[in-house]
Amino acid sequence: MSNFILSPPYRHFLDLAALNVGEAREIIEKARALKAAGQGHGKGYIHPDQPLADRSLAMIFEKPSTRTRVSFEMAIHQLGGTAIVLQGNDMQLGRGETVADTAQVLSGFVDAIMLRADSHDSLLEMAEYATVPVINALTDFSHPCQVMADVLTFEEHLGPIRDKKIVWSGDGNNVAVSWIHAAVLFGCELTLACPKQFSPPTQILEWAANNGGRVTLTHDPAAAATGADCVVTDTWISMGDRNPEERIAILAPFQVNRKLMRQTKKDSLFMHCLPAHRGDEVTDEVIDGPHSVIWDEAENRLHIQKSILMWCFGR
Ligand code: CP
Repeated sequence: MSNFILSPPYRHFLDLAALNVGEAREIIEKARALKAAGQGHGKGYIHPDQPLADRSLAMIFEKPSTRTRVSFEMAIHQLGGTAIVLQGNDMQLGRGETVADTAQVLSGFVDAIMLRADSHDSLLEMAEYATVPVINALTDFSHPCQVMADVLTFEEHLGPIRDKKIVWSGDGNNVAVSWIHAAVLFGCELTLACPKQFSPPTQILEWAANNGGRVTLTHDPAAAATGADCVVTDTWISMGDRNPEERIAILAPFQVNRKLMRQTKKDSLFMHCLPAHRGDEVTDEVIDGPHSVIWDEAENRLHIQKSILMWCFGR
């Protein structure tokens, strides 16, 4: 049993809470450099050094994906490596083969495993039994790759995120949890405006407080947004959520609209990991408006995935 320990320099990328600030900054800075290196080239470009030429990645999806799938596949391609895309239901995994057995088998075929899992426990089991790096590509608990791309995007537009005010308005979901981890890691102020029923897990808020995080939970979105440098939201109906009408009614006061954005700083950003449900968590006037940086945010998934892959391989 590997117990999450890989032979150095190999590393799993499971959650931002497991990184130190030096590692997190290394990933952001390398993403910036890799992005610059690809500027002016076509999307089929391959980095001249082909730093992952001898590396392969199995990408397992137990849930649908557009951005994560395409960005990881293009990322390893542009670094000279190979990706294999697997749908969980098409694998023996979907017929009851254990995650532990799958992890050990795949470790004999590929150099890293990326998993989008229904359950965070599956990710942890994959990491425990794999002998190659495992990457969290979204679970029911967290979405660390997304929030690393969000931090990169924020800093491209407004400079260092340290001491800046980030506001999360809406469902305290898996992306919100990774934002809580990021607030501790990068030293930004995070105010979460969520309904009581859909607040982030109490133990994550306690973890943030115990680790010096400036993370506040409120149920008043207008007060939360006052003076914000960035407002972030996500869909109210995540994959697997039940009772959509009831959720929408509860979350309606947390919609990011022009009135809410008026509370923020003049040069504030609006971010959304996508896909968006326009008219629910965000209005067209905001997502298509001057504060929105959603297309940069989506593109930055590519650049951050490259850097995460390099970091996992110690390159
Ligand atoms: N934001 C995000 O993870 O997008 P996909 O679900 O399309 O991968």
